[in-house]
Parts: sequence; structure tokens; C-alpha cells
Amino acid sequence: MDPCEQPEALASDNRTPKSDFAELKWLSETSSYLMRSVRRYQRIVFLCLFSVCVFAPIIFISQRLHSISPTGRKDFIEDISAVKHRAEALKLSSIEQEGGDSLKEPKVIVYEDKGFASSEKIDDSTEDFIDAGGRPDIQKNGTTARSSKEVQHIQQKVVASVSHGKANPNRAAVQQNRRSQSLTDKKVKEMKDQIVRAKAYLNFAPPGRNSHFVKGLKLRIKELERAMGDAKKDSDLSRSSWQKSRVMEASLSKAGRVYSDCSAMATKLRAMTYSAEEQVQTQKNQATHLLHLASRTTPKGLHCLTMRLTAEYFSMLPEERKFDKQQKLHDQSLYHYAIFTDNVLACAVVVNSTVSSASDPEKIVFHIVTDSLNLPAISMWFLLNPPSKATVDIRSIEEFDWLSPVHDSALEKQDSHDPRYTSALNHLRFYLPNLFPLLNKIVLFDHDVVVQRDLTQLWNVNMRGKVNGAVETCQEGEDSFWRMDKFIDFSEPFVAERFDPNKCTWAFGMNLFDLQTWRSRNLTGIYSSYLQLNKMGRVLKAGSLPIGWLTFYNQTVPLDKRWHILGLGYESGVPRVKIDRAAVIHFDGIMKPWLEIGISKYKGYWNRYLPFDNPYLQQCNIHE
Ligand SMILES: *[C@@H]1O[C@H](CO)[C@@H](O)[C@H](O)[C@H]1NC(C)=O
Ligand SMILES: *[C@@H]1O[C@H](CO)[C@@H](O)[C@H](O)[C@H]1NC(C)=O
Ligand SMILES: *[C@@H]1O[C@H](CO)[C@@H](O)[C@H](O)[C@H]1NC(C)=O
Ligand SMILES: *[C@@H]1O[C@H](CO)[C@@H](O)[C@H](O)[C@H]1NC(C)=O
Repeated sequence: MDPCEQPEALASDNRTPKSDFAELKWLSETSSYLMRSVRRYQRIVFLCLFSVCVFAPIIFISQRLHSISPTGRKDFIEDISAVKHRAEALKLSSIEQEGGDSLKEPKVIVYEDKGFASSEKIDDSTEDFIDAGGRPDIQKNGTTARSSKEVQHIQQKVVASVSHGKANPNRAAVQQNRRSQSLTDKKVKEMKDQIVRAKAYLNFAPPGRNSHFVKGLKLRIKELERAMGDAKKDSDLSRSSWQKSRVMEASLSKAGRVYSDCSAMATKLRAMTYSAEEQVQTQKNQATHLLHLASRTTPKGLHCLTMRLTAEYFSMLPEERKFDKQQKLHDQSLYHYAIFTDNVLACAVVVNSTVSSASDPEKIVFHIVTDSLNLPAISMWFLLNPPSKATVDIRSIEEFDWLSPVHDSALEKQDSHDPRYTSALNHLRFYLPNLFPLLNKIVLFDHDVVVQRDLTQLWNVNMRGKVNGAVETCQEGEDSFWRMDKFIDFSEPFVAERFDPNKCTWAFGMNLFDLQTWRSRNLTGIYSSYLQLNKMGRVLKAGSLPIGWLTFYNQTVPLDKRWHILGLGYESGVPRVKIDRAAVIHFDGIMKPWLEIGISKYKGYWNRYLPFDNPYLQQCNIHE
């Protein structure tokens, strides 16, 4: 006898002995039954111990891995999509902790052994598994409730895509769908659980018994797995998989009766399987984490290039290190572009693409600000590759000694471990009027942009008395859709009183600033006061973009979307036509084109502005 046997079978063995001989025989049968059952329990205990041995090191190692914190070099990139990823990774890793502590039953309600709703239509071949009477806890209107909810959902989607149907309604629907994915993968999870449960029953099916039933169960598993495919959300599920799932539920409820003694075991096993799945998820999170690490590590080629250029720079005489045309730096009639960067290649691409696309390169002045570490390399690059008739000026942030006291005190207490969000170069943008006291207008580029058109018209945009010209990012369904309250804490009364979370957001990357109006409104002072505020409460979630939204609140003029498109630094699915007609394209996100992890289909837009036949690039193995 084994513990998984039907109780009825036990009862039939339990007859009274008729004679001494019969009694003896009965005793020996009972004892051998006991022996067998003890052995079986031993086997189960051994199995459990074995599983613990397997999972414990995995849990241990994954937690160790998790504790390795990123200590990459500074990255000055304003990077909201990275924040999204980061938040996700954090959220997920908290699951890891939970899963790692102990074996826990999953919380999802679908893990109950539910009765089978006999009102639903079933495949003929499975009828022998179905209890005709059903159970009292049948969920009579479960199916209809679900489908009406779905209908509602679809209606919402349709309404949503119609209401902002200006830009491609299909896309909007897809986006919506992506957002609600977490809500609609319930059925997928339920099906996965069914498979796990079925496998658990198979493991505990006594060999030789109920082989018809075991075969049936195996078949159901295969069928359900095939029907599900790699569906991740309910909308991916085919009609047949829903049906297979119902059939499976019927088999399972029968199994629950056949192996009723095993349900405790099955529960435990299921918990273990669940925890194994959590481990898989954890490994995926580690991969995400490593991706972020990769995004902050200098590629070997870039490092080599910086070193060689620096060496070359210091081998020159100081008087040879000068740039000419310096009288143009403060000329109000020219077009001034500011770039804050620590990456010589990125900077070279921004400058070369701007000049290559310009109809009047001699009217262009670049103001490059970097740190003292990268100043020699960047200077050397432009000494060797002067941007045709345009002017460049390269300065180090350390030269602005008025900046450090204000800035250090304002930023040091900001609770952020990511250098990207505290780096001085990133916040330098709020001091533009101080950096360029003699200029009235400037365009600020992030170093992860490529200019594809002549920008003369941009300078004629009517600023309507505002300070900042930027493209908006508040349209739901757009690739770069951001909401204020995602990054700003609106539960803070100071914020809630002054700002509207529904106000349109906008992007950094290419901004036209009216420095005169900026000075007259003392926006840098306002910025400092928000920084102070942030020191006390935690108003801002990340980066300098949210504080930019506060600082330039009521001060921003929307630019035509074609001036600047975003989303080339992550898998955003920006269509090629949109990229091709944009004046400035922006590789926001962590997959920068100069990294291995850059998205190959977008890399060409960036690569075309690098001279790969340059001896320095060749020596450093930098290829297309
Ligand atoms: C059907 O479901 C709805 C909502 O889920 C519930 O309010 C209602 O009582 C259910 N009706 C029956 C007959 O079970
Ligand atoms: C600008 O604002 C700062 C901080 O609020 C203040 O200290 C400073 O006096 C202001 N400057 C002018 C010119 O108003
Ligand atoms: C923005 O403008 C509105 C309307 O003019 C005004 O009520 C609000 O106080 C302004 N907000 C800020 C932060 O300046
Ligand atoms: C600038 O870009 C052009 C292609 O648009 C390329 O031919 C040229 O080599 C580049 N020059 C430099 C100095 O990067």
C-alpha cells in the first residue's frame, strides 16, 4: 500500500480475519504494507532534501550576485528610459528576496483546486474524467464575468485609440496593451500552474496503477503546453488553449480525488516548482542588471582612443593647442550650440553631423564642456579634425569655480547612488546663463544626438516670451510618453499646490533656450530652491529632467515633433520614415550607439558621421 492509494481501496483490504492462520497472514500483510509505506515516505523525504540541496546554492549565489553594486564610471546621460528599466529591476529583485527566504505558496488564487464548471463545453475525449455531479463551489458565472470584462477592456482600448487617434491608432492600442499586460496575464499564469500541478500528480502516481489516467494526464500536459506556445499575456492565447485549459482543470479535479492523500505533497511540490520559477526570473533580472553595467562601462576602443589622443595632446607645445576663430565665441549673430560630454566619439558625431547638415557652417559655434580628464582628448580630436568652417571652444567644468560651491552643497545630499543623476555635467544645464554671460540664445544638445538637417529655421521659432523650446512628450501612445507624476512626488503639498500632473511634459536632448528671459526670470534661482526642497523631502525620483519640468514650468514652448525624435536607445519601434525625416534624432536609453549593446538597426544613423578610416580609430580597432 502506498500513501497515494485511494481510501476506498484501503477499506476493501480491511476485512476481519476468520482463523488464526488467516490472522497471521493478515498480520504479515499489514506489516509488509507498513514497511512499504515507510520506505515510500523515506523516498519522499529524500526527494525533498535533495531539492533543498539543489535550490539552496542557487538562492545563495543569486543573492550574492545581486549585492554586487554597479561602480561604473560616470555617465552624464540624461536617461529616463533607463530609470524605467531600473525601477523594474528593483521591483523584480524584491521578489527575489521574497522567493529566496523560504519556500512559499504562490499567492495567486488560481492555485486552489477548483471544481469543474459542468456548464462549460468539453472535448468529447475527456468525458470519462468528469464528475457528472460537479461540486457545490462551482463558479457559475465565472466565464461570462470574465468575457464581459474583456469586452469592456477592448472598448476602452478602442475609445483610447480614437481619442488620441492623431498619431497612428494601432500603435496607441499596442502601447495601451503593453501597459495593461500585468493585468491580463492571469489566465496564462493559471495555465502554467495547471501544468505544474499536473506534473506534480504525475510524480506521485504509483507505478502501474491508473495507467490510463496517467497517460491521459500526460497528453493533457502536452496539449496545453503546445496550445499556450510562448504566450505571455491573455490576448496571446488561442481559442484552443482556453479549451485545453478547461479540459485540464477537469482532469486535475479528478486527479485530486484519485490521489486525495497526496494533495499535501502536491502543494509542497508546487511551492518548490514555483520557487524554481522565481529563480529563473531572478536570473533574468541579473541579465538586466548586467546590461546596465555594460551601459556604464567604457568600451575598450573608446578608452584606447581617449588615451592615444591625450598622449598626443601632451606631446604638443602649449601654443599649438590653441583653437583659432576665438573672436566668434561671443558673436550674437552666430548660432551657438552647447554640448556637455565626457565621450570624445559621441561629441565628434554631434559636431560633425551638425556641420555636415548645415547650409552655413561658418555661422556655427560649438561650446563643448567636459571634465579635466577628457579635455585633452576632445581638444586633440578637434585639432586633428577641425569641423570645416565652424568654430569650437572646449572647456573643462573645473574652470567654472563659481559652480562648485553652489553645486556641491546642493547635490551632495541628494539621495542617489547613480552617478548619472548627480553628475555635475548633468546639472550644468541649469547654469547656462552663467556659463555664457554674453550670449542671448543657445541650443543645448545632449551628446547622444545626431543632427540630420539644417537647423537655421529652429533659431527663428517664436518663443512667445518663454525660455525653453522643446518637443513635448506627453502624448499617450507616443514612444516617449512620460507623465509628470511618474518622476515627481505629487503627494508633497508644495508640489501639489503649484503643479498640475496632467501638464504636458517635454524632452531634453535638443532645447532652444532664451538666456535673456531666463536671466530676467531668475530661473537658476528657482532651480536652486527646488534642489533645496528636494534635499528635505524626496520630491524628485531621478535625474535632472523632472527638476527641469519644475524649473521650466509655464516657461516652455512646444516645438514641432519633427525637430527632435526620441527613442533610439531602447527598443522603441520608432518607424524608419519618422527617423529619416527628423532634424535631430536622440539615442535616449541605455543602448547607446557607441556600445556593443547599441541597437544595430539604429547604429547606422550614428556611424555615418564617424571617419572610420581615421588612423586613431583604426589603431584602436573602432569599426562600423
Ligand atoms: C456573478 O458575478 C458577479 C460579479 O462577479 C457577482 O456580483 C454575482 O453575484 C454573480 N452571480 C452569480 C449568480 O453567481
Ligand atoms: C534669484 O533667486 C535666488 C534664490 O531664490 C536669490 O537668492 C537671488 O537673490 C535671486 N536673484 C535675483 C537677481 O533676483
Ligand atoms: C503657471 O501658470 C499658471 C497660470 O498662469 C499659474 O496659476 C501658476 O501658478 C503657474 N505656476 C508656476 C509654478 O509658476
Ligand atoms: C563627417 O561625416 C562625414 C559623413 O557625413 C564623413 O565623410 C567625414 O569623414 C566625417 N568627418 C569627421 C572629421 O568626422
